[in-house]
Amino acid sequence: MSDLHTQQTEALAAIAAAADLAALDEQRVATLGKKGWVSAALKTLGQMSPEERAAAAPAIQAIRTEIAEAIEAKKAALEAAELAERLASETVDLTLPAPAAPKGSIHPVSQVMDELAEIFADLGFAVATGPEIEDDWHNFTALNMDETHPARAMHDTFYFPDKTLASSSEAVGQQKTPDGKDILLRTHTSPVQIRSMLAQGAPIRIIAPGRVYRSDSDATHTPMFHQVEGLVVDKGIHLGHLKWTLETFFKAFFEREDIVLRLRPSYFPFTEPSVEVDVGYSNEGGRRVVGGHGDAPGHAWMELGGSGMVNRRVLEFAGVDPYEYQGFAFGLGIDRIAMLKYGMNDLRAFFDGDARWLTHYGFSPFDQPTLSAGVGARA
Ligand code: PHE
Repeated sequence: MSDLHTQQTEALAAIAAAADLAALDEQRVATLGKKGWVSAALKTLGQMSPEERAAAAPAIQAIRTEIAEAIEAKKAALEAAELAERLASETVDLTLPAPAAPKGSIHPVSQVMDELAEIFADLGFAVATGPEIEDDWHNFTALNMDETHPARAMHDTFYFPDKTLASSSEAVGQQKTPDGKDILLRTHTSPVQIRSMLAQGAPIRIIAPGRVYRSDSDATHTPMFHQVEGLVVDKGIHLGHLKWTLETFFKAFFEREDIVLRLRPSYFPFTEPSVEVDVGYSNEGGRRVVGGHGDAPGHAWMELGGSGMVNRRVLEFAGVDPYEYQGFAFGLGIDRIAMLKYGMNDLRAFFDGDARWLTHYGFSPFDQPTLSAGVGARA
């Protein structure tokens, strides 16, 4: 027993002297640990006679408790000292300038879509959407392009799966809708015309901005790009309404009055008559700037999209009575008008996700387009 008391005195001294938590833990292992001497002493109780045990057990337990308490107390003291030291050494200088917070910006395409929606909302248009994964009925057939129509080929369509790759197996997945229609990535936003008319009938006044896909790629074409569809169906709608709407829109969008549009006869299966929309521009300081007559000296025309009076066959497909209602529709390239307004010259950079490009051409999230404060962003 006196041996144990000597060991106890030594252990308590070592605990008191422990310089850090690691040294303290060494003491814990040496005493209370599985192979520590206190644990060993406790084990000897088993071999003692009942009388010996009655005398020794309380003494050994008392040693164990005293050492455990000493370790706990020392641990709390060491931790408190460590915290105090950290608090004293770690200081924050509140007079230093704040570090630059990483900040995002609004992509020009998003910005222009917001601008479009703002201007057209003022003209009484609602924003409609449709799926990017379409079926060939909405994308082609209901737009007066039947199975054999040559205009289908013009669109360089991405089918599900790609018809050129899918000769062999079903493993590529679903190839048709349950009712047997081909599935594809929509090649234009015009199927939203059909979906909107089927859903809400006439009269109707919508724009439908969104992504479209064609197998095409160079400086002015990417396999994915953006269009905004416009559709107005009502009684007595004529080409003059289309022209006024486009002119009013472009004046508001480019924030200048000298916008001159040229409506050029064209062909789309879903409009009759069809007109392509060109805008006059000039090159100023290596940058295209809209405004003025495209035939004037130093000016030219740029194509912005297609439009026309909705073909009566399309109204019929969409369940609207063509004897009662007429309409006009247009489809404009959003990326194109964004380039023209904000001065980018390569479309591909729009979709590279290059942070430097986004920093240069992106817009502040706080700069929301509003008619009262101006729809154009201050870059
Ligand atoms: N959908 C046509 C295209 O993508 C554009 C268009 C829309 C033409 C509406 C006429 C009317 O080229």
